[in-house]
Amino acid sequence: MLNKINIAIDGLSSTGKSSLAKALAKELGYIYIDSGAMYRAVAYFFLENKIQISKDNQDLDKELAQVRLKFVNQRMRLNNIDIEDAIRTMRISNVVSEVAALPVVRDFCVKQQQAFGIDKGVVMDGRDIGTVVFPQAELKIFLYASQEIRVQRRYDELQAKGAGVSKEDVETNLLHRDRIDSTREYNPLKKAEDARELDNSQLDIPGQIELIKSWIINLTA
Ligand code: DC
Repeated sequence: MLNKINIAIDGLSSTGKSSLAKALAKELGYIYIDSGAMYRAVAYFFLENKIQISKDNQDLDKELAQVRLKFVNQRMRLNNIDIEDAIRTMRISNVVSEVAALPVVRDFCVKQQQAFGIDKGVVMDGRDIGTVVFPQAELKIFLYASQEIRVQRRYDELQAKGAGVSKEDVETNLLHRDRIDSTREYNPLKKAEDARELDNSQLDIPGQIELIKSWIINLTA
């Protein structure tokens, strides 16, 4: 296909969005943007600077003015410091949904995410990409995976990094985030009406990419 498009991938935590989005971007020669990393970076900034995470904090705008987010080789930088590993810990996972529910934080991140997509050729994953960030995206995908598989994936990911967490803790955190992400007032996780559904519980990445490529071909047919 000659013309580049934007591809939005949404779904609950650990449905395999970033693994798919990363591989798909590579396959298509597109840019991959992990929007969740941006919320994690803001959460990290708030924790490090002991900033009160609350709607009642009137200074959040002022605090956010100190935040510069950048991806370098798909790794998150905050004010030019690589924080990619630090934002993947349970410390951040435990507060990130509360941070991402704050309208001022969402507006801050969404504005930058939209700028990434101006020239098209972007695969972005998150919770509100098809509904809020790129409502005009040419292809929207809503990913599903069974709860058991989601917990196992996140657990394996953390184990591989040497984090000593129990499966129960992982499951509790996952369900907690699912609930907050799906029920928050401002831009909750929601399937866009025109999103295609993909359950990858039994489908590996090459299988998913093959299916998505057939969707892309049909878009332009
Ligand atoms: O995809 P992730 O688990 O790294 O996302 C971290 C948190 O950020 C998650 O709890 C939901 C939130 N998030 C969001 O609200 N909107 C997005 N577009 C991406 C992530």
